[in-house]
Amino acid sequence: MKKHIVLLPGDGIGAEVIQSAKQVLWAIAEEFNHEFTFESRDIGGTAVDTHGTPLPDETVAACQQADAILLGAVGGPKWDSLPSHLRPEKGLLGIRKALNLFANLRPVKGYPKLLHASPLKEEVVKGSDLLIVRELIGGLYFGTPSERRDKGQSVVDTLAYSRQEITQIVDKAFKSAQLRRHHLTSVDKANVLESSKLWREIVEEKKADYPDVKVDHLLVDAAAMKLITNPGQFDVIVTENMFGDILSDEASVLTGSLGMLPSASLREDGVGLYEPVHGSAPDIAGQGIANPLAMILSTALMLRHSFQLEDEAHLIETAVQAVLDDGYHTADLQIPDGQKIGTSHMTALIVELIKSQS
Ligand code: NAI
Ligand code: MG
Repeated sequence: MKKHIVLLPGDGIGAEVIQSAKQVLWAIAEEFNHEFTFESRDIGGTAVDTHGTPLPDETVAACQQADAILLGAVGGPKWDSLPSHLRPEKGLLGIRKALNLFANLRPVKGYPKLLHASPLKEEVVKGSDLLIVRELIGGLYFGTPSERRDKGQSVVDTLAYSRQEITQIVDKAFKSAQLRRHHLTSVDKANVLESSKLWREIVEEKKADYPDVKVDHLLVDAAAMKLITNPGQFDVIVTENMFGDILSDEASVLTGSLGMLPSASLREDGVGLYEPVHGSAPDIAGQGIANPLAMILSTALMLRHSFQLEDEAHLIETAVQAVLDDGYHTADLQIPDGQKIGTSHMTALIVELIKSQS
């Protein structure tokens, strides 16, 4: 299979973990006879420094031509004081919007070896395996007006959705549930927000199209509590942009580290952008100690969702599990009697396993 992949390393550890993804893809290409070509483009703070904007037109153009996109992370203290249109996050929100990537899939899986890496009790975390389906290009992060008023003394943000926008993400979530354990939890704040009332109505209507999926509704505050007291009750969660952002960071404690969580941002035709859930981790950037597994697992999601290469995706996921089972881990994870290693060593172990197991 021949595929063209655009790499957006971004800032901080983004550039470090993108290197890991590339090495893993080289190994996969070699073992399975695929041809992956790569092209790197600027985004985020790095793009502000070189192009004066967090999302240069040429980056958008390259992504529009790509079969899939891998992104590291954006942001850092260097750019924190810039006006909002120049902030690195604008680049990220902008590329998601420009490519119409409305569905953000965030699988959260507790690995046996990492049970003790979570601050939660072992019996709570054990067996947790859920998927957060987050609406990505609407809701509170994109609604207008969003501005300061009265000389800065008052402020407004807007949570707006159309029926079509809610329907497409809800459909995606139902379909995801059909591929998993057939259970969908829709999370909203329907006791307060109008947008959530429509959201709930649409989920109720759509149930008829997916009779094999069991549906329940939860208010977001209760969902936040249940996610860490009884994560085993969840299969697929579907929710609004900001709720999904918050709940997925919360869910990361189930895995022991943000450095373990991959994500896929998709639209209908299969083009997707894949990135770790974590940020640019400026506190550890440049030290060679970042956990590359979230990025590597994102690469597996790319092979699965954009290229339909299930065997290849599965091999990467098996390799990650095996390396952890052998006790190897980066510094962000606490594994009793494990061996602490850096980014490149971790990547090399995964590559070795891919080559020996395929
Ligand atoms: P962060 O995710 O970058 O870091 C939070 C903590 O987790 C830090 O202590 C960091 O060292 C650690 N961490 C994160 N990923 C890790 C990894 N792969 N390996 C080892 N440790 C890891 O979030 P933070 O500190 O709130 O934000 C830092 C910058 O990243 C900010 O500028 C923020 O805006 C940006 N950010 C970007 C995101 C993106 O590009 N998708 C998402 C979240 C934050
Ligand atoms: Mg976030």
